[in-house]
Parts: sequence; structure tokens; C-alpha cells
Amino acid sequence: MKQEKWSSQFGFVMAAAGSAVGLGNIWKFPYIAGQNGGAVFIIIYVVLLAALGVPLLISEMAIGRSTRSNPIGACRKISKKCGFIGLFGILGAFFILSYYCVMGGLIIRYFLQYLMGGLDTGAEEFYTSVTQSTSEPIIYSVIFTLICAVIVVRGISGGIEKISRIFMPALIILMIILMIRGLTLSGGTEGAKFFLVPQKIDLKELPSITVSAMGQVFFSLSLGMGTLITYGAYLDKSASIPKAAVYIPLIDLAVALLAGLTVLPAVFSYGIEPSAGSGMIFIALPRVFGEISGGVLFGAAFFLLVFFAAVTSAISLIEVIVSYISQRFSLGRGASSAAACTLAAAASIPVSLSFGRLSDIKIFGMNIYDLVNFISDAILMPLGALGICLLCGYLWGKGKAVQEAGIKSRTGRFLYTASVKYTAPIMITVIFLTALFNM
Ligand code: TRP
Repeated sequence: MKQEKWSSQFGFVMAAAGSAVGLGNIWKFPYIAGQNGGAVFIIIYVVLLAALGVPLLISEMAIGRSTRSNPIGACRKISKKCGFIGLFGILGAFFILSYYCVMGGLIIRYFLQYLMGGLDTGAEEFYTSVTQSTSEPIIYSVIFTLICAVIVVRGISGGIEKISRIFMPALIILMIILMIRGLTLSGGTEGAKFFLVPQKIDLKELPSITVSAMGQVFFSLSLGMGTLITYGAYLDKSASIPKAAVYIPLIDLAVALLAGLTVLPAVFSYGIEPSAGSGMIFIALPRVFGEISGGVLFGAAFFLLVFFAAVTSAISLIEVIVSYISQRFSLGRGASSAAACTLAAAASIPVSLSFGRLSDIKIFGMNIYDLVNFISDAILMPLGALGICLLCGYLWGKGKAVQEAGIKSRTGRFLYTASVKYTAPIMITVIFLTALFNM
């Protein structure tokens, strides 16, 4: 495991972009943008991507490459008492994985349904019957986890990198085709306009839009959970971290925008509200596929591309756990992958059941799905990210992070340092507290 490496800088960027591009871009981004005023949200999102996303990406990659360790070991090597920061990451990866596998399973279910000729009932009934069933969500999330296991067990360059090099370009090509279809639906350009041309918003909404945008930046770039520490640990010293920290957000943003331009025009042209929420791709889009000519084919293509995106993200979460188990217990890749995937599959069972059989179980007023989401996205992710700022801004020797990252320009060094020391921690603290008080 220690000798494993990405085969090239390009391979690393594809794998890291594969981790970033996921359900966050295709499922969450369009509906969160829809709920938060469209174009205004996007402008704020882009600013935060540059101001927070880039410095945190650089920090995680630098920590990983310098320590060549799993997140706990890495944080400990930087500062002896700080192993707990890495622990937030590993726990967070585990919690995200527990619902990510369920969503991945749901995507497989939809894809198969379109392969077999499309939905046989209304979109809403189909969604309810699939999610509320007892066995189906479990079976499909286990299938999804097994597919990921097969990739992870093949290692870094032969598994994760190889699959990302195939899936990422395939995903982008499919998205472009679907976007053209979306935009050419009658009334489709209205959706694009909502998405791209800023409208007047109530200024009172600005803080909540900013908080949603920040959370989305972190989730979408896979920050705060040790993913990029783990991926950085396999990165060659000659690779350029600053370049990777520019390419990864650009690819991630491009896919999010493409997804928005595919989903929102379709939603608009069928008179569905842009604030339709999390059912957007599972309920609103299938309604559209049910009405347009060739809809079954487009439905299958759409869910195939979401599947590609979900797999390359889930394997990055699994790899965080694999790297920890293999180093902590000195196990080989086979055994640690099997352990990590078994844990993930087991954790996905209660989440699978939280829409049906276990829907009555409420903890702090949340069902199990909402609870794991809350623990990972609202608690562990901001704490992990705050920890990374603390390590790179204060605890790692002076200038060490900048040196490892190889930031050459003076302005770059200044902006990076200002961000990890001040801007990022302040903003993250604000999201964290806002989310807690809105609970
Ligand atoms: N970024 C992925 C998405 O957009 C999800 C993801 C993968 C993630 N690894 C992560 C989120 C680590 C937070 C932390 O769907």
C-alpha cells in the first residue's frame, strides 16, 4: 500500500475530480440553486469556490503528500495531539457513505427501470414504492457497494484512477447531449435564464443563500473529510498542487452548471417549480422523460451518467476508510477493502429502511436518513475543515504548508495564508453555527 501512486498528474486530477463530481453536482446543485434564487446563488457559489474551496483543497493535498498517511496519522504527524481532526474525517466519510450507497442504489434501480422500458406508474408513485419497500433499497445499495468494492480492491492507479479516466469523460459527453435536449424543450430556455440571469432577490435572503452555497462548496469539492488527504498521500512530489487545485474546482463547477442547465430547463418547461426540492431528479425529471419522445432512452442515459458520478465519489469515501484500516491494522488492500465495504453496506441498511419500515424512528425530530446527513454535512464536515485550517494556518511550522504545496507567487502565498488563517475559519464557523441554530 505504501508504494501505491497515481500514474500521472492527469490521472490524479481525474480521480480527484471524480471524487468531487458526484450526486452533489447532479442531484443537489440544481435543486439547491433552484431553492436559493438561481443565478444569484451561482455567483456567490463561484466566489466561495475560489475563496474557500481552493485554499482548502491545497491544504488537504499538501498534508496528504507531506505525511503519506491516512487522515488520522497525517494530522498526528503535523501536530501530535491533533489525530482527532483526522478522526472527524474518517467518521464523516463513513456517515456520508451510509447514505451515498443508498442513493447510488436508487440510481441503479432507476437506470434498470429505464433500460426495461421506463416507469410503469406515475413518477411520484414509483419513487414512493421504491424508497418505501423493505428489501429493494437494501439490495440495490449492497449492489452499489459491491461495484465500488471491485474498483477499490484493484488499488490506486489500477482501480480508482483507471475507472475515473473512463467515467469522467463519458459523463461529460452524456451531459452535453442531455443538456442540448433540455435546452431545446419548448420553454426550456426559461429555465436556463432563471439559472444564468440574476433576478432581484430579497436582501434578507442573502445570508441563508450564502450559508447554503458554502455548505455546497464543501460537499461538492469533497472537503473536510480527509478524502484529499488520502488522495494526496499517493501524489508524486513532482506533481503541481496549485495547478490541481485550479483544475479540480473548474471541472466540478462545469459539471454542476451542465447539470443545472439540463435539469432546470426540463423542470421549467413542464411547469414544475424550481424550488421542487430533493425530488427534482427522481420525480420531476421522470415526469419529463415520460412525455418527451425518446424519453426512455434519455432517462436511461441520464441515470447512467449519475451512476458514473456516484461511483467515482463513493470510491473516494471508501478509500479514506481503506487507507486507515490498512495502516492501523497492517492489513493488505484486499482485506481492508472488504472490511471497509462491509462496514459501508451494513451502515446503509438502517438508512435504506428510514423511508419505509423505520420511518417512525425519529431522533431530534429527524428520521435516520436526515440524521446521518445532519451529522456528516452539518457537524463533521465543518469541524474537519476547521481542523485543517488550524493545522495549516497555525500548527504546522511556519510556511510549511506553502512550501509543500509549492505556491510560488507572492500574491498566491499571501492569499492562501490569509484564507487558511482568517477568512476560511471565520466563514466555516458561521456556517456551523447557523446550521446548528436552524436545527
Ligand atoms: N463530492 C461528492 C459529491 O459532490 C461527495 C463526496 C465524496 C464527499 N467524497 C466526499 C463529500 C468527502 C464530502 C467529503 O457528490
